[in-house]
Amino acid sequence: MAKPKVFVTRRLPEPALTQLLDRVQADVWPHALPPSRSTLLEKVRGLDGLLCLLTDPIDDPIMAAAGGRLKVISNCAVGVDNIDLPAATRRGIPVGNTPGILTETTADFAFALLMAAARRVVAGDQFVRQGKWQTWGLTQLLGQEISGATLGIIGFGRIGQAVARRAQGFNMRVLFYDPRHPASPSAPPAEKVELEELLMQSDFVSLHTPLNPGTHHLIGARQLAQMKPTAILINTARGPVVDSQALYQALNTGQIGAAALDVTDPEPVPLNHPLLTLENLIITPHIASASRATRGKMAQMAVDNLLAGLAGQPLPNCVNPQVYPR
Ligand code: GLV
Repeated sequence: MAKPKVFVTRRLPEPALTQLLDRVQADVWPHALPPSRSTLLEKVRGLDGLLCLLTDPIDDPIMAAAGGRLKVISNCAVGVDNIDLPAATRRGIPVGNTPGILTETTADFAFALLMAAARRVVAGDQFVRQGKWQTWGLTQLLGQEISGATLGIIGFGRIGQAVARRAQGFNMRVLFYDPRHPASPSAPPAEKVELEELLMQSDFVSLHTPLNPGTHHLIGARQLAQMKPTAILINTARGPVVDSQALYQALNTGQIGAAALDVTDPEPVPLNHPLLTLENLIITPHIASASRATRGKMAQMAVDNLLAGLAGQPLPNCVNPQVYPR
C-alpha cells in the first residue's frame, strides 16, 4: 500500500524525523526560513497530512488547496493561533498541538526573563564588555527586589501555574487574572483578581494567555497606564497580546519600568523597530521552549499526532475534538 503523503514545513530533530520518514512519504522543507505562502499552496496539493510550525499560517485557502484527502494538521507548538481552527473544524480536519511537555521549560524562561530584567543582567553584561567596569559601585546598575514582590499572572493555565510555583520559592505574593480558570485545588496558591487590580498591584506582570480575538492587545495603553511606574512586563505568550506601539510609549516615557519580551508583533521584530532603541527592554527570539530535550519531545508529539491522524485514529492531543463523532 502506498505510504501517506505528508509535507513537513521544517526539519525536525531526531529521532522524530527518522521515525516519520520510515512511516510516510514525507516532503521535508530543508531550509531554515519557512516556506512562502505560494510554496505552501503548491506543496499541500493532494496531501494526506501536514506537519507545520507556528511560523506557518494555515488558513482556509491552504486547506482548500490541499484538497479533500487532508486528514490531519499537526502543529509542532502548543499555541495554534497560526491555524484557522474554525475552518479546520468545518472541514472535519483534526488539528494537533504539543501541550504539557513545554510547560516547565517555558515557565523557567519566563522566570529567567523576570530575573534578568529585574536585576539588569543584560545591561551588566554590556557594561563589562564596553569597558565601563572600573570599580565596585554602591549605586551601580541597581535593579529591583524579586523576593517578596508581587507577581501578577495573566492566564492561569498550565504555564501560568508553573510560573506561580516558581514564585513561591521567591516568597512572592501571586495574583492572577483568568476569566476562564476554574477554581482548582491543585493550583498553586494565588489570589484571583480582576485585571485592573492585578495591573495596579503587581511589581511584575507575566503573560500566559493564548492569542485569540479576546486576548489581542489585551495589554494596551489603558492597561499600561494602570501599572506601577516601576513595574516589569514579561511576555512569553504571543506578541499581539501586547500593543507594541503602546508598550514603546510606556517604556519610553517611564510609565512602566521595563519589559522583557520573548515574543513580538511581528516576528521577527524588524531591526528598525522603535522598541529596539530602548534600554529598559530585553528581547529574545521566541525561545522560551527551546531546550534540547523539550524541542525533541515537541517534535515527537507532533509526529505522534500526525501518524494517529493518518491512521484515522483520534489525535493524542487534539485542539478541535468536535471533529470526532461522539
Ligand atoms: C511556542 O510558542 C508554542 O506555542 O509552542
